[in-house]
Amino acid sequence: MVRALCFKMGKDPKKETAFTIVYKRTERNGIMKTYRTKMLRLVSMALAFALVFSLANVQNVEAKTKKKNIVVLYFSATGTTRGAAKKIGKATKGNVIEIKAKKPYTEEDLDYGDENSRVSKEHASAKTPARSKVRPKIANITAIKKAVKKADVVYIGYPIWWGEAPHIVYSLVENVSLKKKTVIPFSTSISSGLGSSGKHLKVKAQISSKTKWMKGRNFYDVPSQKTVNKWVKSLKY
Ligand SMILES: Cc1cc2nc3c(=O)[nH]c(=O)nc-3n(C[C@H](O)[C@H](O)[C@H](O)COP(=O)(O)O)c2cc1C
Repeated sequence: MVRALCFKMGKDPKKETAFTIVYKRTERNGIMKTYRTKMLRLVSMALAFALVFSLANVQNVEAKTKKKNIVVLYFSATGTTRGAAKKIGKATKGNVIEIKAKKPYTEEDLDYGDENSRVSKEHASAKTPARSKVRPKIANITAIKKAVKKADVVYIGYPIWWGEAPHIVYSLVENVSLKKKTVIPFSTSISSGLGSSGKHLKVKAQISSKTKWMKGRNFYDVPSQKTVNKWVKSLKY
């Protein structure tokens, strides 16, 4: 190429050493410039891609680790379910709230051996608590509604009475919206398990298609913190 140009310009390529040197340099510089531009383009594209990818990754991690708002509601007549609820509260760092009966249950009320006691009458009012019209009033329903509204996950604890959740827990699920919530029932008992008590509550509860109603579990007596931690961890809530 240099040779052809020298010839065109009437110069002797062998003699015009300075000219050929300058020309060769110019040509080489041109090639280098194109090469540098291409490299720059490639590097900036790679950087832009890396930036977009890392931003998407950060957002994904944030969404996954966003702390869930957890409420642990419980009804307890003699303290066992309260003990379990407090341990669940500790394991989940949730807000523990007692479901307080407007008319608290006395020892006499709880005497299921007496057919005239309050609990016996509630039990006899229908075949199941779900079908009963007995709905004991909850003293702190407004505070419960407020807490549940902000919650993502709602644990609901109760003692097993005749294989079911007590009527007052129906007062709760029928009056507090559990739409879009993850609901986790738990119970305490002497010998029965959770049975179908959770499922029966779900039938009467204020839920939506986005409510995630979990199976839940029963504890025989107040569980150890270790047992509760293990269970909560398995639920991932
Ligand atoms: C009215 C009544 C009915 C009960 N029915 C059962 C039952 O069907 N099965 C069972 O294992 N325990 C039954 N229990 C025992 C309670 O479920 C158990 O003592 C529970 O842990 C009490 O919880 P709390 O202390 O939170 O009230 C019953 C207790 C009462 C007062």
